This record gives sequence, C-alpha cells and structure tokens, in this order.
Amino acid sequence: EWKMDAFVENTIQEIREKVGDGRVLLALSGGVDSSVAAGLLSRAIGKQLTCVFVDHGLLRKNEGDEVEAVFGPNGQFDLNFIRVNAQERYYNKLAGVTEPEVKRKIIGEEFIRIFEEEAKKIGAVEFLAQGTIYPDVVESGLGGESAVIKSHHNVGGLPEYVDFKEIIEPLRDLFKDEVRKAGLELGLPEKLVFRQPFPGPGLGIRIIGEVTAEKVRIVQDADAIYREEIANAGLDRSIGQYFAALTNMRSVGVMGDERTYDYAVALRAVNTVDFMTAEAAKIPYEVLDKVMSRIINEVRGVNRVFYDLTSKPPGTIEFE
Ligand code: XMP
Repeated sequence: EWKMDAFVENTIQEIREKVGDGRVLLALSGGVDSSVAAGLLSRAIGKQLTCVFVDHGLLRKNEGDEVEAVFGPNGQFDLNFIRVNAQERYYNKLAGVTEPEVKRKIIGEEFIRIFEEEAKKIGAVEFLAQGTIYPDVVESGLGGESAVIKSHHNVGGLPEYVDFKEIIEPLRDLFKDEVRKAGLELGLPEKLVFRQPFPGPGLGIRIIGEVTAEKVRIVQDADAIYREEIANAGLDRSIGQYFAALTNMRSVGVMGDERTYDYAVALRAVNTVDFMTAEAAKIPYEVLDKVMSRIINEVRGVNRVFYDLTSKPPGTIEFE
C-alpha cells in the first residue's frame, strides 16, 4: 500500500543524493504542484534551493501575500525566496491588447523573461526543479484538446532559457490526490493544498478584452466575495472550479438616484471529471443571490451580475 510519509522520506533522500551540494532553482507559482515540490526540496536541501515567485499582478486577491507568508522569510520553510513584483511591468505590456491568444503569449513570454533575469542574477545553478505530476507526463506534448484551442502556459516542456545541467521532478509519479497528501504531510496549509486549479495566465484570461489595473481590482474583489460565500455555504470542496470573470460589457443601471454605467461580472462554476468537458454547477439560488448583492454593494464599478450556465463544450471553462 502507498504510504505518503514513506514517499516523502524516500524522495527527500533521493533529492539529497542527486543534488549533493549543488544548487536548485524552482519557479514557484503558488499552485499545489510547485508548492509541494518547493516543500519537499526545502526539507531535503534547505537553502540550496531558491524559489522564484513572479507576482504578475494577475493573481487572486491577496494571493501574492499568501504565497509569501508560507514560503517567504517569515514562513515555515528553509529556502531562498525571491518575490518579483512585476505587476506594473505586466500591465504596461498588456495595455491596449485585446486578442486572447496575444494576451496569453505576452503573459507567458514575460514570465520567461523575468525568470531568466532572476536566474542570471543567481548565477549558474546545477539543477532546475519542476512540479510536473504524472498526468502532465502522460499528456506531455499536450495531445489534449486545450492545446489546440488555447496556448497553455506553465504545463510541461523543458525550459531552454536557464542554464542548468539537470532537471528534478520529484512529483512526476504522483496523481493530484497524492500530491495533496504529500502537501499535508509536509505541513502546507490546507487552503493551499486544496486550492482549485488556477491558470498560469491568471486573471488575464478572466478579464475579457484589455487588462487594466482597475479591471484587475474589480475582478479580484468580486472573486473574493464569490469564493467567501461558496465557502460559507460549504460548497468549496464539492464544486470543481469556480471564479468570477469580468465581461467587457458595460450597461446602464441605477444606484440610489444615480444613473450608473458600469461593468457586468460573470460568475462561473463547473463540475468536471477531466476539465475536457464540464457542466455548470447547480448552485443554490440563495447563494447566488447573496453573492450578487454583495458584489453590487461592495465592488465599485459593477452594476450587473450574471451566472454562466454554459457547459463545456461549447463554452470553455475560462473565458479566453
Ligand atoms: P479551458 O478554459 O480550456 O480550461 O476549458 C480547462 C482547464 O485548464 C485551465 N487552464 C489553464 N491552466 N495554464 C494552466 O495552467 C493555462 O494557460 C490555462 N488555461 C486554462 C483552466 O483553469 C481549467 O481548469
């Protein structure tokens, strides 16, 4: 039988043997896989590990600080943590860009550039670590439909942009539920371990059309309210994936005696087995109603809230 504490112990030993006194670089996204990889490597080799965390300004509300709280200098792991605050840089690059694939490309390329810059500052490292898990290995080359429909960022593939001798993938034999167990075993917070999937391009593909700092603020605030109410309703572990998106539509409304001309937020929640197909989750009406009224009252710049009933296909889970 599969024993997680044995996996953690064995993997730590393997990492130590492989790395010796070498240095390891890891791109930490704050997602489950790279976080568990970081935890394992930290337990194995401590400060021989450097994690680079790029805050592209397209993370969910407070997410950058949450990642820093776990992995930063005041966190629970022994490692070198570099947070790159690249928000302005990304917003500048994305200004005026509306085409979904162009947005994805810019976000992905900028990430590579930043990671490369940081790697250069660190100097030669012997090893590059990645949070690749078993399903990524199976799908490598990305035979999946998504690869054709959308250019995925942060899945599979060897980065050619950092000088290193060898790659380390401590999770490459694990399924997602096993990765989560390893995360718990390592003492990562449950909030992180049971995090729902979040795409590499982040809120960049949940804001339809041009990305601006103001739109990011709106979608972050609406999404935080939505997630809070889903958790209050006890639905946070039963719905596959759920989030708020910002449509590119503004419409006329009324608040008090004032005419408004504000944005519409779309709420999405899907259940899915493999993310290739999905159906809209049947969220109780009272929950939706509460989310709607809180978003309207608490998020400046929004005067309408829609619930997206579309399944996949024909809709995709994300909006771009
Ligand atoms: P779609 O929108 O294609 O999403 O139905 C399917 C699943 O993939 C996630 N997704 C991504 N994940 N990088 C990722 O790591 C990406 O570029 C990306 N685009 C979509 C999406 O959140 C959903 O879980």
